[in-house]
Amino acid sequence: MNTVGTRIKLTLTGASHAPSVGFILCGLPKGLSVDLDGVMTDLARRSAKNHSFATKRREADDFVIASGIMGGVTDGGPIRVSFPNREHLRSEYRLIARPSHADYAAFVKSGGREDISGGGKYSGRMTLPLTFAGSLCRGFLKEKGVEVFGHVAAIGSAADAPFDPMMTEKPALDTFFPLVDPSKRAEMEAALLEAHAAGDTLSCEAETAVLGLPAGFGEPLFDGLEGTLAKYLFMIPGLRALEFGEIAERGSLMNDGFTWDGRTVTNNSRGINGGMANGMPVMFRARFRPVPSVKLPQTGYDLLENRPVPLEICGRHDVCILPRGLAAVEAAACLALTDLWLMGEANENG
Ligand SMILES: Cc1cc2nc3c(=O)[nH]c(=O)nc-3n(C[C@H](O)[C@H](O)[C@H](O)COP(=O)(O)O)c2cc1C
Repeated sequence: MNTVGTRIKLTLTGASHAPSVGFILCGLPKGLSVDLDGVMTDLARRSAKNHSFATKRREADDFVIASGIMGGVTDGGPIRVSFPNREHLRSEYRLIARPSHADYAAFVKSGGREDISGGGKYSGRMTLPLTFAGSLCRGFLKEKGVEVFGHVAAIGSAADAPFDPMMTEKPALDTFFPLVDPSKRAEMEAALLEAHAAGDTLSCEAETAVLGLPAGFGEPLFDGLEGTLAKYLFMIPGLRALEFGEIAERGSLMNDGFTWDGRTVTNNSRGINGGMANGMPVMFRARFRPVPSVKLPQTGYDLLENRPVPLEICGRHDVCILPRGLAAVEAAACLALTDLWLMGEANENG
C-alpha cells in the first residue's frame, strides 16, 4: 500500500521515471505553521545539485501543494504535495534487472506490470517526498521542543568523530556536509574521488541525535522508539542496519548509573531503555550499503528473455548515499517521532 503510520498516515506516490513523485500525509493537526524556508533547506540538503559525487540527474525538485496547507498553516486535512519528474532518461533503461537493485523482485512481484525503470518506487528519488513530509513533522516537533539532527559518521573507511553521547554542547554542523570534526571532510572526499575514478561506490554511516524527548516517550512493546523509528527508516533504499546504544561485552561496562535528578552519568544506552526515551539524548546510527550501480562489468538479468546477460551501467549515479541521504534519515525520524507523539497524546486522552 506504500503507506505507513498509526496516528499519522503517510502514502508515497509515483516512481523514479513516472510523471511525478509525491505524498499524501494525513493526521497532522490543524493550525501548524509551515516553515517553508526550512522545508526548502531540507530539500536542498537532499538535492544532488548541492553535492559533489552525486548523480548527474539534476532535478529542480519544484513542487505543487495541492491540499492541506492554506496561507502557510496546516488546515487539518490531508496534505498532498507532488514533484514533477523532468530529468529522467527512460531510454537509458531496458528491462534488465541490475544486480542488488530491487528490479528483479519488483518485476516478479508485480508480474511485470510495475514500471521499474530507474528503480521505480524503490529508487532514492522517493526520498524527495519523504523529506518534504518529514520536514513538516520537524516543524511539529520543534513546537514541542524536540530537535533532530545528524552527521556523516563514515564514508567508506573514513570516519568522523562520534557525537558526544551526553551532548553537553551541540556541535556546529555544516548544512550540506555535517561533520563533528570538519577536518575529516578531506579524507572522505578523497575516498569518494578514488571510488568514483575506479567506477565503484562506497558504503556509509549516519549518526542522528534527538534532543528534547521527555522520559517515558514511546509506547509499550510494539510501538517502542526503536521499532517505530525502524519502520519509517527502512523505507530509505540502501539502508541495511540501525544501531541503538552501545553493546559492550559486559553489562558492567555499559550500564548507565543515575544521578540525583534521574539523569545518568553516562549515556551508553543512547537515551532509550525499554523502547522509551529515558530523558537523555537519543542517538542512533544508520548504515548504508554501497550504491549498487557500479560502473564495472556485471551480470544482469534479462527479464523478457529470462537469462543472465553482461551488463555495464553507464547511467547517472551517486557514488555514496551520504551526505545527501542524511536529510532523508532525519525526515524519517521526524515522521516516526511525530507518529509516536500523537500516539502518546491519544493514549493519555483515553
Ligand atoms: C538518497 C539516495 C540516493 C541513491 N542514489 C542511488 C544511485 O544513484 N544509484 C543507485 O544505484 N542506487 C542509489 N541509491 C540506493 C538504491 O536506491 C538502493 O540500493 C536500491 O534501490 C536497492 O534497495 P536496497 O539496497 O534497500 O535493497 C540511493 C539511495 C538513496 C537513499
